[in-house]
Parts: sequence; C-alpha cells; structure tokens
Amino acid sequence: MSRPTLTEHILLSQAAAPHATGELSRILARLSLAGRMISQRILNAGCLGEHGDTGEVNVQGEDVKMLDILSNDIFIRVFDTLSSVAGIASEEMEDIHLYDDWEMGKYFVLFDPLDGSGNIDIDGSLGSIFAVHARPEGDGPITQEDFLQSGKNQVAAGYILYGPATVFVYTAGQGAVSGFTLDRSVGEFFLTHPNMTIPDGGGHYSVNESNQTKWESDVVDLVESYRLGKTGLGKRGARYTGAFVADFHRTLLKGGVFMYPGLKDRPRGKLRYLYEASPLSMIAVRAGGKATDGVRDILDLKPEALHERCPLYVGSKSDVDYVMSRLKG
Ligand code: AHG
Ligand code: MN
Ligand code: MN
Repeated sequence: MSRPTLTEHILLSQAAAPHATGELSRILARLSLAGRMISQRILNAGCLGEHGDTGEVNVQGEDVKMLDILSNDIFIRVFDTLSSVAGIASEEMEDIHLYDDWEMGKYFVLFDPLDGSGNIDIDGSLGSIFAVHARPEGDGPITQEDFLQSGKNQVAAGYILYGPATVFVYTAGQGAVSGFTLDRSVGEFFLTHPNMTIPDGGGHYSVNESNQTKWESDVVDLVESYRLGKTGLGKRGARYTGAFVADFHRTLLKGGVFMYPGLKDRPRGKLRYLYEASPLSMIAVRAGGKATDGVRDILDLKPEALHERCPLYVGSKSDVDYVMSRLKG
C-alpha cells in the first residue's frame, strides 16, 4: 500500500477543519514547493559554483552565502502569485516585504530560508524554517509591528531538513506534527512520520560547548551535569551539527535537549525568535515536548523587533523541566 502524499494529507486535514477556506492549504503546498526547489539547488550547488560567500553581511551582521540568497529568492517567488499571502519576513531581509496584491492577503509567512549555512561548503545538513501568522484585523496599511506576534499565535509552523533525504515536518491549526520524506524520482513528499511525539527519556544533549567561557555559571553547571551524566535523567550523549534544523530533528526523533543559551556578551544568545525559536518550539510542544528561554515558555514571548533573538532550551519535557530547575532565571 502506498503512503499518503503531503498534498493528500493537507487536503484531508483541510476537510476535517470546520471553517477551512483552503488558503492555508495552498500556503503549505507552496512551502513544500520551496522545499523541493531549495533541495534541488543544494544538490547541484557544488557543481554550479554556488558554494561560498556573496561578500555581503546581512542585517544580523553575519556573512551571507550564495545559497542563503538563492534560497531566500525561492521563498519570495513561491508566494508572489499567491494572493492569500500579504507579506513575508525573512532572516535575510532587513524589513518586511509586501506583495503587490497585499490587500487581499490574510496571512504572513516568516522564514529562515537556509538554516545552518555554515554547513553549505562542507555538504553538511541544512534546513529551512517557516511560520505562518494571521494578518491582524483592520484595513490600514500593514506595518512591521503587525509581524511581531507571539509564538502561540502561529497558524502553522514547520521545517524542511536537507540531509541525506529531504524531510518536511509541519503542524497546522490544532493538528498533530507530521513528517514527510521526498521521493526525488517523482518529486513528491510521502508521509513517513505520522503523529510525531518526542520520546521522554534517552536521546542527546546538543549545545556548542566552545561557548563555555561566555556562559553564566548556572549554564556552565547545567551543561557539566549533562556531560558527566549527573542529571538524574539517565545518560545523554553529546551531538551538535551546527544546523539547528538538523539538531532539532534528531531531538524530535530521539529525545533529549537542544540548547542555545544566552552569552555574557550577547544575553539573548544567537537564535532568532520569529524565524527559528518560535516555529520549532511550536513543533516541540505539539509533539509533547517543551521549550523555554530559561524562565518563560517560548510560545508566550512576544518579540519587540523583527530580528530579535532569545535563549532557547527545547526538547523532551523531562529534560526541559530539568533545565529550568537548574537555571536561576
Ligand atoms: P543560520 O545559518 O540560519 O544563520 O543559523 C545558524 C544557527 C543555527 O542553525 C545553529 O544552531 C547555530 O547557528 C550554530 O551557531 P554556533 O556556530 O554559534 O554554534
Ligand atoms: Mn538559522
Ligand atoms: Mn539562515
């Protein structure tokens, strides 16, 4: 028996939602198209001379790779002809981008077009992360402020992992977390991971330990308890790929915790709230896990700026509860 495709799954979920108009389904279909296009681009990038830097620095102060821009352009293009999307915001763009027919659109899409871009030139795993928000009510012009929404308002969230296989994971409405794997021979995603839940027990801890000298003492002690197997939760091995999507995907499947703590010279850490922390925290919570900045639930935060960052601890419920018990807040 063949597995359902992503398209079939989206349509079945739409039919089960009482007031669905089909607009969100079309947005999800376009996100899957972006995923397939970026996946193909990554596959051929080495041969096409598309590895390496552009020489530009983005709004985050980070070097921009050629594939960051190519991926960002793909996201811009797939929503260009979809009137339900009024505008977009991206990790790679300083300001929001509104489409010509923005007045018709009821949704915003926010994304990290290529996550883990330090892995591009070494052919390591990469990802894309997305969040869909409803456009606030009202006829007035859309402002940046309209995009500054709390994670709990997300209408849909998910990611695309570009590893040995390309995997699309999402949740929408009040639905479960579902994962699909791309069959390149037919260009379709097939349901391979229905009703995903994070195991509670086992798995790994995942953190960049080279930042130890920049952590506050409670974080140093927390990570040491993981390293020495003194958490009381059982043994956790260490894994860190440098691509949040890849580290998150492993955490979702195997359990444990991913951490990007605040640093002494950067108290909010590195990960961006709207494009990274908030969407993947929604996936974790819907899968029975938990996500915190150390004190508050990630989904309860509300950003004050488009590119705002936040400390992040996300993963199995018991691990995140333990993390919170060890941090001073
Ligand atoms: P991006 O490539 O979108 O800028 O994101 C990189 C992020 C994330 O993917 C990863 O978890 C983290 O940066 C790694 O940072 P460090 O090298 O500081 O550990
Ligand atoms: Mn990223
Ligand atoms: Mn990125």
